[in-house]
Amino acid sequence: SRSQNQKLTLAVGAVASASVCALFGGVVLAQYIFTKKKRAGKKTKIIEMMPEFEKSTVHIRDPDRVERIICSMIQGGASKLQIITDFDMTLSKFAINGKRCPTCHNIIDNCKLVTEECRKKLLQLKETYYPIEIDPHLTMEEKYPFMVEWYFKSHSLLVEQRLQREKLPEVVRESDVSLREGYEQFFDRLHQHSVPVFIFSAGLGDVLEEIIRQAGVYHPNIKVVSNFMDFDENGILKGFKGELIHVYNKHDGALRNTEYFKQLKDNGNIILLGDSLGDLTMADGVPNVENMLKIGFLNDKVEECLEKYMDSYDIVLVKDETLEVPNSILQKIL
Ligand code: TMP
Ligand code: MG
Repeated sequence: SRSQNQKLTLAVGAVASASVCALFGGVVLAQYIFTKKKRAGKKTKIIEMMPEFEKSTVHIRDPDRVERIICSMIQGGASKLQIITDFDMTLSKFAINGKRCPTCHNIIDNCKLVTEECRKKLLQLKETYYPIEIDPHLTMEEKYPFMVEWYFKSHSLLVEQRLQREKLPEVVRESDVSLREGYEQFFDRLHQHSVPVFIFSAGLGDVLEEIIRQAGVYHPNIKVVSNFMDFDENGILKGFKGELIHVYNKHDGALRNTEYFKQLKDNGNIILLGDSLGDLTMADGVPNVENMLKIGFLNDKVEECLEKYMDSYDIVLVKDETLEVPNSILQKIL
């Protein structure tokens, strides 16, 4: 009878461990299904399915808003889209391995056509006015007169140098300017789908055009609005054409280009790209805006400016020298 008892104990033990196993298995299965569901539930958003948005450079205040805008833009497709973009430090790189890259102006400042004395003066101007341009404690209105001063002084110095138009291609070729990683895809995709691109720059138009021409991306869907040099009949710089565009007067760009924007009245979906808070006003006055996605590159004074940038730009890209995020959005829309 002892051996019978032993058998019984064994049998009870086996049943017990079998039920523990079943229970354990059940729990694991339930957990698996739960997390799978949770994960599947989490990935209902387009921006969550895009690996580019997981980069640590990407900062978004209101992901739901970004999601809504991108969805509307996908619905609208190529025919409703247009791009309004800044140039310096937005399409061009801010730094490579910590070394600053030049703006259009800096390309001239650093070139061999400019005398040492003039270069020194231009550098002094930069040291005075660039900190004001990016000062997080001053309003755009407060900065405005200083920017006018900077441009006036800097452009007067350039005119004094009697720059030759025909030397510009060489000067650009020899410079350290570089477009952001992914620029080929960016421009080529927009060209393929005939999406209008408005490059609105407070830089130097002639230099800017030469940069994108040499990069092989100056396609016919691009319109450049910037400060263009005025040359005399011998090709010597004598002044600048039209009204000055500086960092903080971009708000009347649409007003000054009414014909262009009238033609694009059906392109109500706008992707705006900039690096300065002044760039946020680039689409002011554009008629029939349906959706606008603002993407801002924050290159400098990151800690001081991040909050403000996140309040104003839908997507902030911090020290991101690439166009990966804009490209990933364009890939969805086009
Ligand atoms: P953007 O509108 O294409 O960004 O170009 C304007 C930039 O050029 C802005 O960041 C100020 C900068 N700038 C210089 O680097 N040197 C100058 O002499 C002037 C007047 C402006
Ligand atoms: Mg800029």
